[in-house]
Amino acid sequence: MNKDLRKVVIAGNWKMNKTRPEAKALIEELKPVAAKATCDVVICVPFTNLETALDATKGTNIKVGAQNCHFEKSGAFTGEVSADMLAEMGVEYVVLGHSERRQYFGETDVTVNKRVKAALAAGLKVILCVGELLEQREQGVTEEIVGMQTKIALQGVTDEELKNVIIAYEPVWAIGTGKTATAEQANEVCKYIRSVIADLYSMADACEFVIQYGGSMNAKNAEELINQPDVDGGLIGGASLKAADFGVILEAGSNCIA
Ligand code: PGA
Repeated sequence: MNKDLRKVVIAGNWKMNKTRPEAKALIEELKPVAAKATCDVVICVPFTNLETALDATKGTNIKVGAQNCHFEKSGAFTGEVSADMLAEMGVEYVVLGHSERRQYFGETDVTVNKRVKAALAAGLKVILCVGELLEQREQGVTEEIVGMQTKIALQGVTDEELKNVIIAYEPVWAIGTGKTATAEQANEVCKYIRSVIADLYSMADACEFVIQYGGSMNAKNAEELINQPDVDGGLIGGASLKAADFGVILEAGSNCIA
C-alpha cells in the first residue's frame, strides 16, 4: 500500500513519569529536536503535566496528549477525568486501551470502546492500543486477538470519526521488556490491522489510516521498524523520556521511505 497517503506520527508515552519541573525541562530539551521533524510529533503526558506541556509547547510543532479518559461526561467517578475536561484544556490526543490499563486497571474491549466514542465525541484524536500477550502469540491467535480488540473498540465509530483515530499495535510482550518485535512481525500485524479497517470501513479509509508500532522502539531499531510498508510511526515509552533518543526516532520518522 502506498505510504504517501499517510503521515508518520511519532508519539511519546511518558507513562507515570516526570513531575512538573521535570516535564518542563524535558520539553525544553525536546523543542529544538522536534523543530527539525517533518513527521507529526506528540507527547502523551500524565494528567498533572498537561497544563505545563500545553504552555511549554505553545507555538511549536509538538502536540500534547493524555494517557486515558473516562467515558462519562461527568459524575461520581472518583479519580477519573472526562474527555470534555481534556478537550477544554486544549489537549489534542488521548491514548486509550493501553495494555497497562487493560492489565492493571481492569479495562476491557467494551470499556475501551466507550472511551473511544466519548473521546471522539469531545473532538479528541485517539491513539488506540491493541496487542497480544506472549502466550497468545505462541498459541497462534495474534490476528484473532488484535482483530477482536480493533473491531470492538471501533464499534459505532463512523467513517468521519475514524479520521481522528490512530491504532498503535503494541505486542504486550515487547512493552518495556527490551524485546522488540522484528520489523517483519510488526509489519505483518500492522498490515493485518489495515485489512480489518478495510473490512469495517473501506479500502480508501484503510489506505489513509495511520498504524503505529510500539514496544521497546528505540534510537537503534526505529528506522527499520518505521520503514516497513504498513508501519506509520511509533508509540514510544522508555525512549521518549530521553530527548536525544526521541530525536533520533523523530529523524527516522521524518526520513521514512514511502
Ligand atoms: P516502551 O513502551 O517503548 O517502553 O516499550 C511503549 C508503550 O507502552 O507505549
